[in-house]
Amino acid sequence: MSAPIIAQEVKGIIPAGSNGPATMPVVVAVPKELAPGEQRVATVPEVVQKLTKSGHEVRIEHDAGTSAYYSDDLFIAAGAKIASSRTELLNGAQIVLRVQSPTVDEVDQLAEGTIVIGFMNATHNLEAVARMRDRKITAFALELVPRITRAQSMDALSSQATAAGYTAAILGAGHCPKFLPMLTTAAGTIRPATVLILGAGVAGLMAIATAKRLGAIVEAYDVRRAAGEQVRSLGARFLELEINAEGEGGYARELTPEEKEKEQQMVSSAVARADIVITTAAIPGRKAPLLITGKTVATMRPGAVIVDLAAESGGNCELTRPGKTVIENGVMILGPQNLPAQIPFHSSQMYAKNLQSFLALLFDKDGTLVREFTDEILTASLLVHAGEVRHGPTRDLLSGGKP
Ligand SMILES: NC(=O)c1ccc[n+]([C@@H]2O[C@H](COP(=O)([O-])OP(=O)(O)OC[C@H]3O[C@@H](n4cnc5c(N)ncnc54)[C@H](O)[C@@H]3O)[C@@H](O)[C@H]2O)c1
Repeated sequence: MSAPIIAQEVKGIIPAGSNGPATMPVVVAVPKELAPGEQRVATVPEVVQKLTKSGHEVRIEHDAGTSAYYSDDLFIAAGAKIASSRTELLNGAQIVLRVQSPTVDEVDQLAEGTIVIGFMNATHNLEAVARMRDRKITAFALELVPRITRAQSMDALSSQATAAGYTAAILGAGHCPKFLPMLTTAAGTIRPATVLILGAGVAGLMAIATAKRLGAIVEAYDVRRAAGEQVRSLGARFLELEINAEGEGGYARELTPEEKEKEQQMVSSAVARADIVITTAAIPGRKAPLLITGKTVATMRPGAVIVDLAAESGGNCELTRPGKTVIENGVMILGPQNLPAQIPFHSSQMYAKNLQSFLALLFDKDGTLVREFTDEILTASLLVHAGEVRHGPTRDLLSGGKP
């Protein structure tokens, strides 16, 4: 039996429509992200302004937004206080907004009962999760927010996938030795490049839209037949295969060995004619499906580029190395990690808005910070609370079982 999700109440938020100032402001702290390559920040001045207007005290760690081009001065102008050290930042903070999961050391800096919100990537951060449990931290994992209509404004997976899809298309175009659009010039006519997108979820659709805007001929494939309509609505050609692997919650299911073989055959011929291939295929909680074998790469034209967005979860291409660029027979295979961090200004802005919407669930109509998490979005995303890991698969992993 889970312990009741109740702790102390903290007064201090003025919700929209309320009459007066709060007596004790809730302190919201935003640390500088320390993970290598992370350039995003969990809030932006526009959101700070809204939070301070509502009666919150917002503290930003010195330089937290600098690499996303949000200076301390911009935060100060929006009403935030700049903390010169982590200790100063966290002293008395009830809520901590993050992009990535805290490290064990960072968890040790938090006071018992602190609420931490961000991507927690629990299966890769089990030690930090266990420490949050032991230190009685409350952690909400944004990747666990259910994809229901009411939670769309909090869907950080989607906002960051949008940033990743856009950046992947730009990256592909930047490494391609060809123009993407058709050109008719005095120096001759240039044929448009062909871009193939494998996986037409949020990131894939954004990559399609971006490649189309750059003037390429775009083809796309997804195992979910429902994706076909979305692909066509963007003006791209949808590659049909007699497989519809739409599984639980609208996500793709894993294919059977026969289906996988059929898929690879169809994908191979499309890959061979493409100048740029962007792969985004993923199945939640599983290794990414292998769509492009080394043999298929050997059929591609020299100068062709593969951008494998699934690099971090095993790769859609057999030759992908996460964080590395591989060149095989003149074909460049990029395995970028954390692409949203490469477009930090806007990915931070979108992420900050997601957090702003999520935060609204944590206050009741009187502006009191709730400690009884009954809203289904809160219960689904609650990773750790009151000394317990609330997310079943993570709890199983921590106790040595299978998720
Ligand atoms: N609020 C909402 O309702 C909401 C928000 C975002 C996404 N969604 C839906 O969730 C689903 C997945 O979105 P996502 O972008 O997070 O997905 P994802 O990142 O989990 O996967 C990316 C894509 O890869 C595809 N894929 C998986 N295996 C494949 C294979 N073998 N070959 C080709 N493609 C393969 C998936 O179908 C998916 O479209 C979509 O149906 C999307 O419309 C709903």
